[in-house]
This record gives sequence, structure tokens and C-alpha cells, in this order.
Amino acid sequence: MIMAKNLFRTALRTCMRGGMVFSAMAFLAHGAKAQDDRGARIERGRYLAIAGDCLACHTTPGGKPFAGGLDLKTPFGIITTSNITSDRETGIGSWTLQQFDSAVRHGKSPKGYLYPAMPYPAYAKITDTDLADLWEYIRTIPPVRNAVVTNKLPFPYNIRALMIGWNLLFLDRTPFAPDPSKSAQVNRGAYLVEGLEHCGTCHTTKNFLGGDTRATYQGTSLQGWYAPDLSNNPHTGLGRWSADDLVTYLRSGTNRFTAASGPMTETIENSTQHLSDVDLQAIAAYFKSLPPRAAAAPAPLPATNAQMVTGAREFIVQCSACHVSSGAGIRNMIPTLQDNPAVNAPDPDSLLNIVLRGTNGPMTAANPTGAAMPAFGWKLHDDQIAAILTYIRNSMGNAAPAVQPADVARARKAIGAEQPVWH
Ligand code: HEC
Ligand code: HEC
Ligand code: HEC
Repeated sequence: MIMAKNLFRTALRTCMRGGMVFSAMAFLAHGAKAQDDRGARIERGRYLAIAGDCLACHTTPGGKPFAGGLDLKTPFGIITTSNITSDRETGIGSWTLQQFDSAVRHGKSPKGYLYPAMPYPAYAKITDTDLADLWEYIRTIPPVRNAVVTNKLPFPYNIRALMIGWNLLFLDRTPFAPDPSKSAQVNRGAYLVEGLEHCGTCHTTKNFLGGDTRATYQGTSLQGWYAPDLSNNPHTGLGRWSADDLVTYLRSGTNRFTAASGPMTETIENSTQHLSDVDLQAIAAYFKSLPPRAAAAPAPLPATNAQMVTGAREFIVQCSACHVSSGAGIRNMIPTLQDNPAVNAPDPDSLLNIVLRGTNGPMTAANPTGAAMPAFGWKLHDDQIAAILTYIRNSMGNAAPAVQPADVARARKAIGAEQPVWH
């Protein structure tokens, strides 16, 4: 996390330097007026790049900003991010605006069709003006020589031309169109969420080919996590959150209901905490305008169920020191587990990840210390973790399918968590 922070700071510094060098050239060439316009566009582009979270994917931990090389795990294999610095040979320094547009909004680069691990299906919604400003900024990134082979997928997925078919099926090329029945604020939120912020890349339910289903923002699994339902369903989604609750969460990483973990931590640290208040309010207004996912809460398991009995006992021993026996937590320090949509998620992957490996909350300007939960993978057996999670998912106002020991064993393996040290 510290690394991510430093990285971000270095990037901001580098970009400011790039901006200054460019400004000096512009001054000589076109005079002060053009310099102001250019400077303002680069500054807008920098903000758009933060909204789009380009840096996080296109940089390795400790690596040079935007020089690529980060491995992303997909259900189809590993795909590595490209060098998008202005190096002419290994980066995109010799590209034109048209080539940049083709890659970012249409998924086609001079090297062939791109894989949607690069979120071009979402970026397709970026407006012409924003795309051009983004390019002005990306062009100022200092060149870094770093040759990256991005396509490490196994046959047949390594054939880029397969993406022609994928795009026909799943790429929606229609530009963003504001909904005239909604307010300007909701439309601004929709534009950011569907486009640069690409919230649906992680939160929209996917089909077996990795394409979006119609269950927009209704939750999906990714890399050992479950990105939950963001609809207004009160049981699994944001139904009980106010717009301000969502703004607080996206700015600080925590609110009265929950604390962020895993991939959401990075999204908040690198992107949403830096958005303007007006844009955060717009995003929240958009999510509050969505209909709830149509799914009734299941009935909780009875307290007499064998897993529930074991789970209740183990919860007191292992978890209640922090989360307290009622699960209410400690305000602003330990999140409550009561009536918690993340706990009610149909898929327990995030809970398994948090308990097996522990978790660090985001460190944000609004909440600089963050919070941490220890790992239990080394300490607890599969059946103990399954019982504890089944218990918290069916008490404290929650109701969700039981977790089986086999689910814990599978998650342990998938995310490389430790095995218990004693038998
Ligand atoms: C979720 C991770 C992710 C994010 C966020 C992301 N990219 Fe990418 N990007 C990738 C991956 C992976 C590739 C390589 C895809 C391939 O080779 O098929 C890529 C490729 C590219 C390419 C093509 C480079 C080439 O040489 O072909 C460009 C340009 C690009 N990204 C720009 C951007 C910009 C600008 C942003 C922010 C608005 C951004 N990316 C955000 C993952 C990401
Ligand atoms: C890289 C993938 C990714 C992206 C992009 C992403 N999220 Fe998430 N999000 C997750 C995961 C995984 C979780 C579950 C972990 C957790 O609860 O912290 C999550 C959790 C959340 C939660 C907490 C829900 C709850 O019930 O506790 C909210 C709210 C949320 N995301 C909103 C957003 C919004 C808004 C965006 C776009 C600005 C976004 N996310 C973009 C992966 C992502
Ligand atoms: C040392 C204190 C501590 C102990 C012990 C502890 N937790 Fe946590 N737990 C935390 C903190 C702090 C967080 C928030 C971390 C963050 O900010 O991401 C958390 C987060 C969680 C979350 C995510 C909540 C959400 O809204 O996303 C779950 C679920 C959870 N803990 C379950 C457990 C279970 C089950 C146990 C026992 C096996 C346990 N915790 C033991 C401190 C603790």
C-alpha cells in the first residue's frame, strides 16, 4: 500500500515536470495564449487519467510510472499491461491521436486487437473532448524504455483476432448519450461510472466468455474476490446507503456500514479519493437512481444448525475481541458485521479472502491510518472457517447460503493462503 502511494506521488511529480517542459516549448512556439490552453488541457487530461485509473494497471510495484509490465490474472490466462510512456520504440511515443483513440475506445492497437483486460469496452463511452485531453496528458509522460510482451495467454486465447468476434458480441460502440429524463448530475455520474471509472468492469455479472450480462452492477467474482451488488437492493446492495454514505466510502475507504478491502482498496486509493466533490456526488446520485436488483433475502439458517452452533462459539473466541460479540464492531475502527451487504453476498469469496489472508483498509487523505484485520489462514481449519462464516452470514441480521469446508479449501489454494500450522 505504501508502495502504491509513493508510486502515485512519483507519478504526479513526473507529470508535473512533463507538463512544465512541454509548457516551455509551447511558449516558444505559440505564445502565452496557446500555452495556457495546452496547460489547461494537460491538467484536465491528468484528472481524467486518475478517473480512468490508467496508472494502477500500467505500472508495476516499484516500477516507473506507465511503463507497463504488470501481470493481470484473467480466467483465460495472464495478460500483461503495455508500456504507455512516450518512448518511441517500446512505448507509444510515435503514436497519433487517432491511434490512441483506436486503442483506448475501440480496442485496436497497431499490434492488433486488444484484450478487454484493458477496459476499452467501458472507455468506449469517453467523449471526443475528454479523449483528446487524455492524450495531451499521456503524451507528456517521460519516455521509459521497457519492452513488454503483453499476450501471455495460452492457445487458443492468444489469437488476437478472436477479439473481433468478442467485440461483435459484447462491445457496445454507441457513444455515451445522456438520459433526458434524468438530472444533469445523474448524467454526469453515469458518464463517469460507465466510462472512465469502469465500475462495471468489476461489478457487472459476467458470462462464460467474460462479457457483460444484463445484470449491470449486480455483482461478480474476480481473482479470489467478489465485487458485490451496487444496485439499491437493501439486502445485498446499497439500498440502505444514502448518497453521502457512498461519497464518504469512495473518498475515505470506509463508512458506517463497511470498510473496503482487496481490489476496491486500490480503486479508492488510486482513483476515487482524488475525484472532486462534485464528481463524487454525481457518482452517488447515479447509483441512487438505479432500481434495486430483484431478489428477496433468503431465510437465515436456524441457530440450531450444527455449523451455526460451532460458528457462534468460534466467533466469540476468534473474532469478538474486535468485532464484539453482537458483531456491531467499533465505530470508525472496526466495521460492523450486522445487516452487512458484503456479508450477505451470494458468493463468499471476499469473506474467505479477508479471513484467510487478513486485510488492510485503504490509506486515504481522509483516513490516513486505515485499519487492519489479521490473517486466520495459518490458525484455523477449513471446517472452523466455514462454520464462522456460515454463522455471521445467518445471524446479526444477515442471511446467505452456508459456506462449506470445501469452499475454504478451494479458496486457500486459489489465493495461495497459508495452511493451518497445527492439526
Ligand atoms: C484494468 C487494467 C487497465 C487499466 C485500468 C487501463 N489499462 Fe490500458 N491496457 C491494459 C492491458 C492489459 C493492456 C494490454 C492489452 C493487450 O495487449 O491486448 C493495455 C493496453 C493499453 C494500450 C495499448 C498499448 C499498445 O502498445 O498496444 C493503451 C494505449 C492503453 N492501454 C492506455 C490506457 C489508458 C489511457 C488508460 C486509462 C484511461 C488505461 N490504459 C487503463 C490494462 C489496463
Ligand atoms: C478492480 C475492480 C473494481 C473496480 C474497478 C471497482 N470495484 Fe468496487 N469493489 C470491488 C471488490 C472486489 C469489492 C469487494 C471488497 C470490499 O467489500 O471491499 C468492492 C466493493 C465495493 C463497494 C462496497 C459494497 C458493500 O456492500 O460493502 C462499493 C460501494 C463499491 N465497490 C463501489 C464501486 C464504485 C462506485 C466503483 C467505480 C467508481 C467501483 N466500486 C469500482 C472491486 C472493484
Ligand atoms: C484484531 C482485530 C480483528 C479481529 C480479531 C478480526 N477482525 Fe475482522 N476486521 C477487522 C478490521 C479492522 C476490519 C476492516 C479492515 C479494512 O479496513 O479493510 C475487519 C473486516 C472484516 C470483514 C469485512 C467487513 C466488511 O464490511 O467488508 C469481515 C467479514 C470480518 N472482518 C470478519 C472477521 C471474522 C470472521 C473474524 C474472526 C475469524 C475477524 N473478522 C477477526 C478487525 C478484526
